[in-house]
Amino acid sequence: MNETKPPEFKTQFAEDVFKGLTSYPKKISSKFFYDEKGDELFQKIMELPEYYLTGKEYDILLQHREEIGDAFSSFNGFDLIELGAGDGKKTKVLLRHFEEKSYDYKYLPVDISKNVLEQLSDSLLQEFPALDVEPQQGTYANVLTRLADYRDRKKVILFLGSNIGNLTPEEAVAFLKKISSAMHEKDLFFMGVDQKKEPQVILDAYNDSAGVTEAFNKNLLTRMNRELEADFDPETFIHWPLYNPETGVAKSYLVSTKEQTVQINALNLEVHFHKWETIHTEVSQKYDDTSIAWLAEEAGLEMAGSWADKDNCYKNYLFKRTGL
Ligand code: AVJ
Repeated sequence: MNETKPPEFKTQFAEDVFKGLTSYPKKISSKFFYDEKGDELFQKIMELPEYYLTGKEYDILLQHREEIGDAFSSFNGFDLIELGAGDGKKTKVLLRHFEEKSYDYKYLPVDISKNVLEQLSDSLLQEFPALDVEPQQGTYANVLTRLADYRDRKKVILFLGSNIGNLTPEEAVAFLKKISSAMHEKDLFFMGVDQKKEPQVILDAYNDSAGVTEAFNKNLLTRMNRELEADFDPETFIHWPLYNPETGVAKSYLVSTKEQTVQINALNLEVHFHKWETIHTEVSQKYDDTSIAWLAEEAGLEMAGSWADKDNCYKNYLFKRTGL
């Protein structure tokens, strides 16, 4: 590796790639999976037979919509804030039910991607023409700070899809603390969490036979090629997911199958890989009731309900803020 002068970083991606590939062991955050191609691959992942998470959560919301709706609703209406709204497929199950019940509420989908928010707004206008939608573009942290001032009526914050899993437990506590500090009396936080289960089932979810998850991980390499003028050959890396049933952590790596040097021209950086050297790409932490209770306690949240499928494969938890 040979660094000439410290480059100035044009984007967050450039800065994180520089830092991640000059660290040891090498890493790149999974938040960079989601460019246009990555969004498309993630849509495909959600349809895979091995990727049970989306279907399980959809079923839980559909089956328990009545009870969930009862918990959310309030005499003077509520504001429904969704962090990382995505395509809204699962949320629409709830929106449909709320419409049937004529609930008075506003929907505020939050996403970092303007593109995602525009597509979601268009589809909501088609499917729910009467719904009051106010898209919020920005990072979760910024939007949460802004929304802490929403205190005229009940706030319900949604965080679905087991997105919490992309944070380490320590990062998750810090994140949940931010959520709880944006909450007032009666506000609720509703979160979907993939559960510890048969290890092979979890491993298969990140190692599908069609190779879509492999392509999703390797998209990081082609993204660096395109956006940072790098010359990665994706064929020289293998995708390696693993699951540790003790800690509940699922991790993914890209492993170099040969000794090689890669140029990243936009960073003025040469990166050397030993044969079998890794790039850590993703954490997908799995929880159970005990570890979720610990997270909640640390973050100042108190459990107010939970719903699961019959095998406790996936769970949706409802929290209020402790001590209010
Ligand atoms: C969107 C973060 C929940 O970790 O299961 C899917 C992303 N990664 N396949 C997950 C993902 C590989 C997903 N989350």
